[in-house]
Amino acid sequence: MKLWGGRFSHETDKTANDFQASIGFDRRLYREDIEGSIAHATMLGRQGIIEPSEAEKIVEGLRGILADIEAGNLTFSSDNEDIHMNIETFLTQRIGTTGKRLHTARSRNDQVALDMRMYVRRESGTLIEYVDAAIRALLELAKEHTATVMPAYTHLQRAQPVTFAHYMLAWCQMLRRDHTRLSDCLARMDECPLGAGACASTTYPIDRRFVAAELGFSDVTANSIDAVSDRDYVVELCAALALIMTHLSRMCEELVLWSSWEYRFIEMDEAYSTGSSIMPQKKNPDMAELIRGKTGRVYGDLMGLLTMLKALPLAYNKDMQEDKEACFDAIDTVKDCLTVFTPMVGTMRVNVGRLRAAADEGFINATDAADYLTKKGVAFRDAYTAVGKLVAACVEMGVTLEELPIEKLREIHPAFEEDVYAAIGLDACVSGRKAEGGPAEVSVREQIEKLERFLA
Ligand code: ARG
Repeated sequence: MKLWGGRFSHETDKTANDFQASIGFDRRLYREDIEGSIAHATMLGRQGIIEPSEAEKIVEGLRGILADIEAGNLTFSSDNEDIHMNIETFLTQRIGTTGKRLHTARSRNDQVALDMRMYVRRESGTLIEYVDAAIRALLELAKEHTATVMPAYTHLQRAQPVTFAHYMLAWCQMLRRDHTRLSDCLARMDECPLGAGACASTTYPIDRRFVAAELGFSDVTANSIDAVSDRDYVVELCAALALIMTHLSRMCEELVLWSSWEYRFIEMDEAYSTGSSIMPQKKNPDMAELIRGKTGRVYGDLMGLLTMLKALPLAYNKDMQEDKEACFDAIDTVKDCLTVFTPMVGTMRVNVGRLRAAADEGFINATDAADYLTKKGVAFRDAYTAVGKLVAACVEMGVTLEELPIEKLREIHPAFEEDVYAAIGLDACVSGRKAEGGPAEVSVREQIEKLERFLA
């Protein structure tokens, strides 16, 4: 017999029942559901809406249920549709009719709104820790490689000289913003919806502020209709998660490229590589590829949520039950990816020689050669054209800019002098770029310090 049996004369069709049941996935909200119910029952007792002794009995019953679920001693049933009804049923089985008083002045609509907020709040905190761990791993690499020169690319063509540290710090910044995006979501979801009831609050003299404080919220939701209709915070979290995946996929794409024999900038540790079933020579960066690949499903979760909410009339509609699997999947996927990403980058070997060789070969000091002329009084556009001619000559001769003899340089522009070789040497090109945010060691040290302060 269903909880709403009074209104109904016969049972829900078995298939329809299974179709609409959410216990298969919302069971993971059991802790939040029980904590919310404990706060609610305590409030009901304090306000004299139920007897204080009844409230105590309910709280004790709920604590026992929590312990039993965690010990694996209770089995959920789809006859009870969702986590809320399962727990209420356990409670009544355990403490008798007093259990039936728990749902006074509450609806499953504000109950599920509360559970999801609490769940998303807890997971957001954990996700921030995962993101920070990834930042720390990249920061360690940065500290080791402040002098490891490599080319930065635009259009995937060698562009200008940087260091491996500078590159890793670029990745850190992407993840630092991800951390702050998660904190922003947390700040906005910090309102307790309990007390909104089904949609129009309640006539009982409830104390919403007490419940909110018990559950660690700093405020209560301002409008009962909105409180049970809002899933913005789930969308926001999933949008933040989608961006984390965007960032991870960009990093992983480069890690895959850099692991290739063509680049050989890095080598993944064997613990994070796989072999081929047929080609004995292969060592594949599967973990990085799979993280890149899983990005799509998190985008899908976000799209599913947005589409589910689109044009949905206020207040609660059963459509909203669909928020859960998408949200859970996005959270699980990002956690799984970060769990592998962090030790994968932490254990990879950086091929300093290959990075340096790539920096030596792509004329990435051409801008510096033009800047050299500009600093001697030549207009930048003229300097740019002169160096363009030099590069063309180098390509033809198969040499680098710094290998050209001074006579050849002066033939193309008379402002070149012997000091040009010092000015366009790779290390000088890097150490000269000491503007805030640049790759010079002084700027990189500043970036590292700032990030360390952020993490602390
Ligand atoms: N399982 C439901 C959900 O997740 C709980 C709320 C149900 N409320 C209702 N009136 N059907 O959305």
